Amino acid sequence: MKVLIATEKPFSGVAVKGIKEVLDAAGYETALLEKYTEKAQLLDAVKDADALIIRSDKVDAEVLAAAKQLKIVVRAGAGYDNIDLAAATSHNVVAMNTPGQNANSVAELVFGLLVMAVRRFYDGGSGTELKGKRLGILAFGNVGRNVARIAKGFDMEVLAYDAYCPAEVIEAAGVKAVASQDALFEQSDIVSLHIPATAETKQSINRALVNKLPKGGVLVNTARAEVINEAELLALLQERPDLRYVTDIKPAAHDAFAALTGQYFSTPKKMGAQTAEANVNAGIAAARQIVDFIENGVTRFQVNK
Ligand code: 3PG
Repeated sequence: MKVLIATEKPFSGVAVKGIKEVLDAAGYETALLEKYTEKAQLLDAVKDADALIIRSDKVDAEVLAAAKQLKIVVRAGAGYDNIDLAAATSHNVVAMNTPGQNANSVAELVFGLLVMAVRRFYDGGSGTELKGKRLGILAFGNVGRNVARIAKGFDMEVLAYDAYCPAEVIEAAGVKAVASQDALFEQSDIVSLHIPATAETKQSINRALVNKLPKGGVLVNTARAEVINEAELLALLQERPDLRYVTDIKPAAHDAFAALTGQYFSTPKKMGAQTAEANVNAGIAAARQIVDFIENGVTRFQVNK
C-alpha cells in the first residue's frame, strides 16, 4: 500500500515523521512530494499511489484520473473545497477531512492578527485593547468555538451566528447567539470569518454586509479568499478609512489593499494551520484514517457520501 503525502506547503518535519511512523506500523510505504511547483509533478506522483494525504493541494478531475490506484484522499485539515468531490465519487475514491485537528492553531492566529490591527499595525500611535470589545464569530464550527474560548480570556463580549448550528448550542458555550449574519455585523466591533467556501458562501462577504460594521470595525479572515467579494470590500475600505481588514489569505488585489495604509494586513502565505502541533494533529489523524479505512473500512470522516 503506497501513501503519497503531496503538500505544496509542507508539514513540519516532526509531523512527517509521525505520519511515517503510523504508516510504517501498518506496513505501508510512504512517498513524499513537497513544495512542488507544477501540477505535472503531482500528476506523475499520484500514478501509483493507493492513498493520498494533502493540505490545500488541488485534487481535481485530472489528478483523480491520473491516480489509477487511488482508493482514498485525506485532506489533513478542515476545508475540502480543494477536492472535486463528484470526480472523487465517480472514480470510487473516498474523500475525507480531519475536522478540528488544526482548529486551535487557526484560532490563535486570529488573535495575532487582531492585536496587530487594534494596535494600529504597530505604527507607534495609541491603539485600543480587545478587552470589552464585541467579537462576532461567523460560523460556530471547530475554529469558531476555539476563537470564542480564547476571546473570553481577552475579556471580550462574544457573539456568534451560524446558519447550521442551533442558537441553544451557541448559548450553551457562553456565547450570545444572534439571529442573522446582518445582525452579527451590526452588533460587533470585530467580525471573524469561519465559514467554509461553498456555493452559498462564495462572495457572500460583500459591501452591504461589511458596511454594517460600526465605526472602527475590523474584519478578520482566516477562512477562505473565495468568501470575500474582493472588489466590493476594497471599494468599501477606500470609502471608509475607519475600517480595517486583516487576512491570512492574500487577496488577488493585494497591492491595491496594501496601498490603504493602516487598514490592511495579509500574511504572505496562509499560516493559520502552520504550527508543528496542527501539522502533527492533522497529519497523523489523516494517516490513521487511511489505515482505518484500508484495514477496517471505517468511513467516519468521509465527505463525499
Ligand atoms: C483548513 O482548511 O484546514 C485550513 O485552511 C488550513 O489549510 P492548510 O493546510 O493549507 O494550511
